[in-house]
Amino acid sequence: MAIEQPATRPANPRFSSGPCAKPPTFELNKLADAALGRSHRAAVGKTKLKDAIEGTREILGIPADYKIGIVPASDTGAVEMALWSMLGARKVEMLAWESFGAGWVTDVVKQLKIDAEVKTADYGQIVDLASVDFANDVVFTWNGTTAGVRVPNGDWIADDREGITICDATSAAFAMDLPWDKLDVTTFSWQKVLGGEAAHGIIVLSPRAVERLETYTPAWPLPKIFRMTKGGKLIEGIFTGATINTPSMLAVEDYLFALDWARSVGGLKGLIARADANAQAVFDFCDANDWIANLAEDAATQSNTSVCLKFTDDRIQDGAAFAKAVAKRLEAENIALDIGAYRDAPAGLRIWCGGTVETADIEAMLPWLAWAFEAEIAAQ
Ligand SMILES: Cc1ncc(COP(=O)(O)O)c(C=O)c1O
Repeated sequence: MAIEQPATRPANPRFSSGPCAKPPTFELNKLADAALGRSHRAAVGKTKLKDAIEGTREILGIPADYKIGIVPASDTGAVEMALWSMLGARKVEMLAWESFGAGWVTDVVKQLKIDAEVKTADYGQIVDLASVDFANDVVFTWNGTTAGVRVPNGDWIADDREGITICDATSAAFAMDLPWDKLDVTTFSWQKVLGGEAAHGIIVLSPRAVERLETYTPAWPLPKIFRMTKGGKLIEGIFTGATINTPSMLAVEDYLFALDWARSVGGLKGLIARADANAQAVFDFCDANDWIANLAEDAATQSNTSVCLKFTDDRIQDGAAFAKAVAKRLEAENIALDIGAYRDAPAGLRIWCGGTVETADIEAMLPWLAWAFEAEIAAQ
């Protein structure tokens, strides 16, 4: 028997966890003012890069004495810069509960070979944050994109810490409150919550992070794209728009557009409210259907951006094949694109709920998810 399809379709089927949906008002022609074919060091380019930095500060509420830099290689580039140029001064605690955090562990333990205490948790859970010793440097991911598990807040981070905190906040910035006084290095990329173009990363440094950079020189060589100091002093230019190497001015224009859109929805507060409403629609759907559940076990750690779901129906014969088939069915109907779980994560789905996604689209998509589920159960 054919299972009836819902009547309403999402206007935008893009629920990818990165690159994420562009702001709803985006059109390519809105980037017409991009400083293309010009030197990024000409006044026009420099001004746009500085506007990108100061717009980031304004919307995220980053303190005036924190440095913000636009760096190469997206969030990965920004995290790597921090790990390679700042760690090794003292012991480090590495916290990981999903694939990206695990990647930073590999870097620190296997590549840099630093004295590290590694704390990990399975997908869906989080490490014991109360056990972290802030005499050490601490590296963690604010929102584990591949598990849909985030830290509940920053209360567990000591105000009087001796070490520095390095936080990969790429799927958290612009969707969650980040307590800047607790974060010494914070990184993210443009392609995530604001739906910008992939290319560049942002690195945010607290005064303590700058102090580390100016007083510590790692034992290993640093390639040019990781270097933030010269002669023991911070290269201030990086943090005013004189980038280390050539940025894409098209990506910069796109980011400036995204920042403007963010202002138009009420800045950070508006963005958080949008993500919360999207995620709540998915949580409510899980509550209403006993065949699907949030992968994040503790409600306090459930992401409002990368919401990860698992199927829990015992009629399912092959979990991985089933989840893939549901995602494929929704993609074929142009209802939901790119919602399969991350390749290293448990079988399931991942629905991006960041602020560029419209709640009406989430609400229109969910009945289709129920449709695809029933259709796959029948097809097994
Ligand atoms: C938590 C986290 N860290 C790092 C990355 C890598 O980001 P990028 O590809 O922008 O370097 C991602 C991408 O999804 C991520 O979710």
